Amino acid sequence: MQVTISSGNNINGTLVLPLFEGEEALPADVGGIPAALKGQIDRVLGDGDFKAKANSTMTLMGTDGGKAMLIGLGKANKVDVHGYRDAGATVVASLKKIHGDELTVLFHDADVQSMAAFGEGMMLRDYRYDLYKKKDEEDEDTNLAARINCSEGDASALSALIEKAAAVTSGVHLSRDLGNCPPNDMYPMAFAEKAEKWAKEYDNVKVEVIDYDAAIRHGMGGLVAVGMGSARKPCMVIFTLNGEKAGRHPVLVGKGITFDTGGISLKPGANMDEMKYDMGGSATVFGTMQALAASGYDGKVVGITCMAENMPSSNAQRPGDVITTLSGKTIEVLNTDAEGRLVLSDGLWKAGTDFDPEYIVDFATLTGACVVALGHEATGLWSNDDEFRGRLHETSKSVGELAWPMPLLPAFEKEMTDSKIADTRNLGSGRWGGANTAAAFLKQFVPNRGEGEDAEQITWAHMDIAGTYWGAKTNKMVGHGATGIHVRTMVEFITQK
Ligand code: BES
Ligand code: ZN
Ligand code: ZN
Repeated sequence: MQVTISSGNNINGTLVLPLFEGEEALPADVGGIPAALKGQIDRVLGDGDFKAKANSTMTLMGTDGGKAMLIGLGKANKVDVHGYRDAGATVVASLKKIHGDELTVLFHDADVQSMAAFGEGMMLRDYRYDLYKKKDEEDEDTNLAARINCSEGDASALSALIEKAAAVTSGVHLSRDLGNCPPNDMYPMAFAEKAEKWAKEYDNVKVEVIDYDAAIRHGMGGLVAVGMGSARKPCMVIFTLNGEKAGRHPVLVGKGITFDTGGISLKPGANMDEMKYDMGGSATVFGTMQALAASGYDGKVVGITCMAENMPSSNAQRPGDVITTLSGKTIEVLNTDAEGRLVLSDGLWKAGTDFDPEYIVDFATLTGACVVALGHEATGLWSNDDEFRGRLHETSKSVGELAWPMPLLPAFEKEMTDSKIADTRNLGSGRWGGANTAAAFLKQFVPNRGEGEDAEQITWAHMDIAGTYWGAKTNKMVGHGATGIHVRTMVEFITQK
């Protein structure tokens, strides 16, 4: 969808009219609306037939040919940017053939931030994954075009915000495309090929693929153990944006299990198809790199994605195996379904030893226990730095992608080192607190900066997106499938300063 800004008064296509609850008529200075249509709008408002409750819509056809979609914002003193973003998304979700593919949005009493949020909501919600569906000529993809009419004074600031939102939306939609892709077509090297193709689109990005043989050579024992049971071998894909920039920089790490059967610790059959989304962490990383590149961000950022397919086979790892990770630490694999933490152990170590991170953030559909704790409404957020965790929490809240603080306790870490024959174990000793023990496990693979007395662990946060990468129920920006969550959080976090 293309959103443009105009400070003119004319209306093309369907008029989209955001309204506050309690408005009984349009203000007199809202111009450009055909008289018959305006009369009808005033009538439904005056009669109370349209109350403008948040996210309610009504379509009107004027006898003079004008068409309008009214969209409720709720009470004027209650609606915030999230309300505007939701309302924009609701408009797009409610479009029918009759509205055509041209929209003109006419606000009254909205500031630049609110108008931009509405436009962002429209763009984010304009998403379908129908690549594998036969297309009738009838439902040929429509190319929506929306114009926001605003005052001359607001036009340039609004244009800039919309342009940035469009760039970021392209990253969110990339993450969703990757997640929604069926697992027969989305396997580790397919992800790598997509990344390599993407790297050709921008001069300031680079993609390096560490394939299976190289991963073995480098000693990536976690990645190799998880991926070796599949005919489609694992790999690590490293994205670099503005690599020539000196100094410390963010490093993002993603869990990229393109399908998680559980391996020899096989999962039950019900809903196993959903395990195609188990590469959501890597999709978040790739999507964020796209959003940053498209929006012209000029700082250095590195993304590390740990790609593997977790399959049972005669080559698969077994419960009981002891593996040696890139860090040199050994892990007793007590359950092959706790595979995300194994591939991440190598990704996190690589992040902290091959680069000079200002901080590391990892994204992973890591545990069912996180979904038990937080449902589909919030991501679990752990960090070795309380202040850092607080800032990530605030940023996630500010963009409407809630990440909720969770405890990283020494007791959880202790539980994960209690192996008779290895340095660590990949399973807690009981079933309680599984999302916390998983986070504590990961912490052991975050390197220190400095040595000896001065050694300090690199600032790190872990986001468990098992409940939020798909299955969203209340998120108005998502119609179906993968959500693309935290691309917007990370763009905001990285670019604000
Ligand atoms: N990919 C799953 C986690 C998951 C489960 C995400 C359900 C979303 C919905 C992960 O690899 C896994 O299977 N974790 C196990 C860990 C356990 C064996 C310690 C789990 O959560 O049951
Ligand atoms: Zn698993
Ligand atoms: Zn998994």
